[in-house]
Amino acid sequence: MTNDKKSPSDTFTIIDNATGKSFDLPVIHGTTGPRVVDIRKFYADTGCFTYDPGFTSTGSCESKVTFIDGDKGILLHRGYPIEQLAENSSFLEVAYLLLFGNLPDQAQMKQFDHDITYHSMLNEQILRFYSGFRRDAHPMAISCGIVGALSAFYHDSLDFTDDFQRIVAETRLIAKMPTIVANAYKYSIGQPFTYPRNDLDYAANFLQMMFSVPCETYTVNPVLARAMNRILILHADHEQNASTSTVRLAGSSGANPFACIAAGIASLWGPSHGGANEAVLNMLMQIGSKDRVPEFVERAKDKDDPFRLMGFGHRVYKNFDPRAKIMEKTCHEVLDDLGIHNEPLLQIAMELERIALQDDYFIEKKLYPNVDFYSGIIFRAMGIPTSMFTALFALARTTGWVAQWLEMITDPEMKIGRPRQLYTGATQRDYVPIGKR
Ligand code: CMC
Repeated sequence: MTNDKKSPSDTFTIIDNATGKSFDLPVIHGTTGPRVVDIRKFYADTGCFTYDPGFTSTGSCESKVTFIDGDKGILLHRGYPIEQLAENSSFLEVAYLLLFGNLPDQAQMKQFDHDITYHSMLNEQILRFYSGFRRDAHPMAISCGIVGALSAFYHDSLDFTDDFQRIVAETRLIAKMPTIVANAYKYSIGQPFTYPRNDLDYAANFLQMMFSVPCETYTVNPVLARAMNRILILHADHEQNASTSTVRLAGSSGANPFACIAAGIASLWGPSHGGANEAVLNMLMQIGSKDRVPEFVERAKDKDDPFRLMGFGHRVYKNFDPRAKIMEKTCHEVLDDLGIHNEPLLQIAMELERIALQDDYFIEKKLYPNVDFYSGIIFRAMGIPTSMFTALFALARTTGWVAQWLEMITDPEMKIGRPRQLYTGATQRDYVPIGKR
């Protein structure tokens, strides 16, 4: 943390009522966002820990990658609004932006595109790993396993202290992820793996690997490719969420990049995080018809019922999730293009959104549709099975994870992550032999 972000006059004073002592804590200013109280010396100075389960008030790192203003519904990548990137950019351009800090010029874009495109094949031996999984294995289980296994194949890019190796690892991860995820799908339906095609862009190539078969020519639908490109952009990064923090924490110990991204995939899988897109679709199917929506809204509000509205609520967004708005628009575009009118799940989703947004419970708790609310309906319309939804999220988020990992690993102030705890277990006691207990 550079000193110019600290102003000697801006301090935060706390008083320890137990001792009557007061402590001036330095306040740090980012380029935007709330003031940040620097508590790094808090324990040394006061002998106390701070307690913040779930990190609701704790900044774990300094970052220049992504900024979110949850009250205003703002999401910026390297300063650029998500709406502008989703409308105008390609996924690889956004990937370049996240990794290197600026939008590429034409030559830089051409080179980056080439590097990613020419690393998209997997070592042929990795393909044999797939046959070790059951056919009904979840694609997230397969993706996590295969990505973790990359470190057993690419020994020449494990040393993160070497600038060149870092770049190679980052390129391999972003390039191979679509192949890994598409292969998981092909394996589950018993079709041969499809190799990447270098004449297609990142999103179109992914669709091609998912849906082409060797016995006929596959033509990519440009509307679906554009929608996929946009969905990938919307999922590319989201500052210090659970999976990104997991990647950073794993990386802080010096673990290799492939292992760190595998850890991120594991964390993303949970239904409170990336697994929500799959859970939303399952929920819409469970609701079944528009007239049952009020019943499920009531259940979501009932403290004694574990049911929650999946795709609703967010730790940071307390106004709206800007990604959800773009996702909803994309959803209508895709359904129109495919001639899907009156899709029952979309009708249920829209009714759910309408009723929930008028309900005092959701208004008071500031619960709005999040990015996962509409994405599942688009994926389903594209012919992507529900179990693949979170794997697609992982594919897109790999770019953000890699960008955040790179930032961390090159940060001179990087330390191994090591939170403390509030211990409430037994105090010291003596061992009692089993016969005397
Ligand atoms: N349905 C019903 N009640 C909810 C919901 C929901 N979806 N989300 C939060 N609440 C209630 C919650 O019960 C709590 O009530 P109370 O204050 O009375 O105890 C209050 O709202 C605050 O919720 P919280 O769980 O304390 O908030 P959080 O910041 O810890 O959780 C969340 C955020 C996203 C995990 C949560 O809103 C949730 O579980 N949503 C459904 C799952 C989901 O859609 N996740 C995707 C998030 S966006 C993409 C991503 O991160 O990958």
